[in-house]
Amino acid sequence: MLEAILLVGGQGTRLRPLTISTPKPMLPVAGFACTEHQIALARAAGVERIILGTSYRAEVFEEHFGHGENYGVELVYAVEDEPLGTGGAIRNAAAHLTCGPNDPVIIFNGDVLTGLDISGLVQKWREANADVALYLTRVEDPRPYGLVPTDADGRVHEFREKPTTPEEIVTDQINAGCYIFKRSIIDSIPSDRPVSVERETFPELLAADRIVIGVVDEGYWLDLGTPLAFAKGSADLVRGIAPSPLLVGRTGEALIETSAKVDPSALITGGTYVGHGAVIGAGAVVTGSVIFANVEVGSDSHVSNSIVSTAAQIGSRCQIVDTVIAERAVIASDKALEPGSLVFPDEKVN
Ligand code: GDD
Ligand code: MG
Repeated sequence: MLEAILLVGGQGTRLRPLTISTPKPMLPVAGFACTEHQIALARAAGVERIILGTSYRAEVFEEHFGHGENYGVELVYAVEDEPLGTGGAIRNAAAHLTCGPNDPVIIFNGDVLTGLDISGLVQKWREANADVALYLTRVEDPRPYGLVPTDADGRVHEFREKPTTPEEIVTDQINAGCYIFKRSIIDSIPSDRPVSVERETFPELLAADRIVIGVVDEGYWLDLGTPLAFAKGSADLVRGIAPSPLLVGRTGEALIETSAKVDPSALITGGTYVGHGAVIGAGAVVTGSVIFANVEVGSDSHVSNSIVSTAAQIGSRCQIVDTVIAERAVIASDKALEPGSLVFPDEKVN
């Protein structure tokens, strides 16, 4: 039986104020929590059992997913009372694994949007007789990520998490946040304290000459950690640029839930998602945005590359660009918000 661990316990600090009440992996991208897209991808690769490593707002996951009855996989929860870091979370989750010491375990960061061929990565791990296989992607600016140079054989000899000096930028290949670990390697992570898999476990495995391979995949990849990335990820899913088993046959310039009321003269485009019960007024233009359930957008307002959370209200003739509006906030008519604004839950902008 193929087992996976999803790391979903982070604070989602860069997505505040959206993550005050909802953990980042549970925020809806194109109508489904990121975790749900990942469960579907894992299931499609033959994963039958997934352990969710939770900490921040742990209860939200179980309330939503239960034990996986409706998701075609068995879901198990490993809850950390205090956040254990990425490596500590993996070690904590391992208590729930049923596989043997030499079996592969798939591990996913909970905020990564990808169409990765998971079975292909497991296959490469097997062929290389590896301890760990890392999914890598190339990005223009690698600084916010883990840098992972590889040699001609795909072996990893170095892992530099979030480099701070220009000399450290030795590659554009980064850790894409999905790994295949040999089970016994997970069991060797210390269990009694927080551990960072990026800053501690990987460097230690490399120093001990364990077989760590990097597999560069050219397909779609995005970390949903910032508001702009989050809106882009949702729009890419809606438009079919980012793949998800949950959206097959439903992609286009907009994804509008049937219970939403969109005035026929409104323009909804650029991969915008409009949630259940939302109301979009006459002449409104909404592009590249995520409109959660029960939001109201007034007539002739323009909303672009923004995230508008549950039951927030935007008046008429507003200009909302690159903005995050948290749940139940109210924006009065005729407001032009500074691009990049963050509006807090229940805040009133008059
Ligand atoms: N259970 C648990 N406990 N999960 C955690 C904890 C913890 O203490 N800390 C973080 N996580 C989870 C987060 O919820 C997220 O899904 C994942 O671990 C990674 O944390 P992020 O905060 O999103 O890290 P990052 O984006 O800065 O960097 C990581 O991802 C990059 C790729 O997206 C690193 O793995 C980088 O090396 C990598 O390039
Ligand atoms: Mg991240």
